[in-house]
Amino acid sequence: MTVMKFLIVPLVLVAFSCNICESFELERKDFESEKSLMQLYKRWSSHHRISRNANEMHNRFKVFKNNAKHVFKVNLMGKSLKLKLNQFADMSDDEFRNMYSSNITYYKDLHAKKIEATGGRIGGFMYEHANNIPSSIDWRKKGAVNAIKNQGRCGSCWAFAAVAAVESIHQIKTNELVSLSEEEVLDCDYRDGGCRGGFYNSAFEFMMDNDGVTIEDNYPYYEGNGYCRRRGGRNKRVRIDGYENVPRNNEYALMKAVAHQPVAVAIASGGSDFKFYGGGMFTENDFCGFNIDHTVVVVGYGTDEDGDYWIIRNQYGHRWGMNGYMKMQRGAHSPQGVCGMAMQPAYPVKY
Ligand SMILES: *[C@@H]1O[C@H](CO)[C@@H](O)[C@H](O)[C@H]1NC(C)=O
Repeated sequence: MTVMKFLIVPLVLVAFSCNICESFELERKDFESEKSLMQLYKRWSSHHRISRNANEMHNRFKVFKNNAKHVFKVNLMGKSLKLKLNQFADMSDDEFRNMYSSNITYYKDLHAKKIEATGGRIGGFMYEHANNIPSSIDWRKKGAVNAIKNQGRCGSCWAFAAVAAVESIHQIKTNELVSLSEEEVLDCDYRDGGCRGGFYNSAFEFMMDNDGVTIEDNYPYYEGNGYCRRRGGRNKRVRIDGYENVPRNNEYALMKAVAHQPVAVAIASGGSDFKFYGGGMFTENDFCGFNIDHTVVVVGYGTDEDGDYWIIRNQYGHRWGMNGYMKMQRGAHSPQGVCGMAMQPAYPVKY
């Protein structure tokens, strides 16, 4: 694990400085004719090693052209936000939603009903009276955040966000950074819906009942969900003592929490600007989509020439965004925050 830590930290440090690594540049001449657009599509397919069968090419090419035009247009607007034609460029909105989105609202409501019925174990807000909040923090630099993961073709963001928040609080409390098993949560947490969706709060409840969660090596990810196998037994498990919600629609409260540990947030993600995010500041004027259907983890905050920002850790692999991360505007006019990120943040508690 020590070796892993040394490998991961340098990768993480370059995250914001290397936002056009591996980029796929678009030029005006790519848009001159159907022929040049088809060439662009082929170049994109080989860049991403994506092969499509001839039957679906026609529709996919149509989708691709619209997305390529959107990306090119936004990048000429002179905004801080930059988009890129990533691995999602020829997927229709429906396809993207079916594959990646998670039925957050449904499982959140289900969870709320259970809490009402059973009392639940959710705590208060331990950071309410925190003071001396630093003006910036980046948990990646403190070695509390693992390398970017990839949820693949499965609506498992909720398990990834819960696990990432637990990995971080475990590192903060024990100084040991381990990678934990999203798959165990997907397969064994019957409160939630596996690849169809779920909610991080119920995943935290599951971990409390399940003697924690095992390490990734004991129960590796396979982009699907199935039988629960108690691999690794009681060996190498990370446990939590509870979880708490950050007061809703209150970015200052969220800042107090993130000053102490990374926090899971639910957001809207189906919009084209979010899907194709490539770098720069993602603001409340950019398009996230209309439904809260995704979860990510806030791993820090700060201020730079673009203004106040949050550091958002996604799990779409390192090719999305800035090596897997997004810089998101902090202090939006809307109390819900950009993409609704301040609506229902939560974090695991570990003593
Ligand atoms: C969420 O899950 C419920 C229960 O399975 C289902 O009825 C509903 O249609 C789902 N919603 C979406 C947006 O997938």
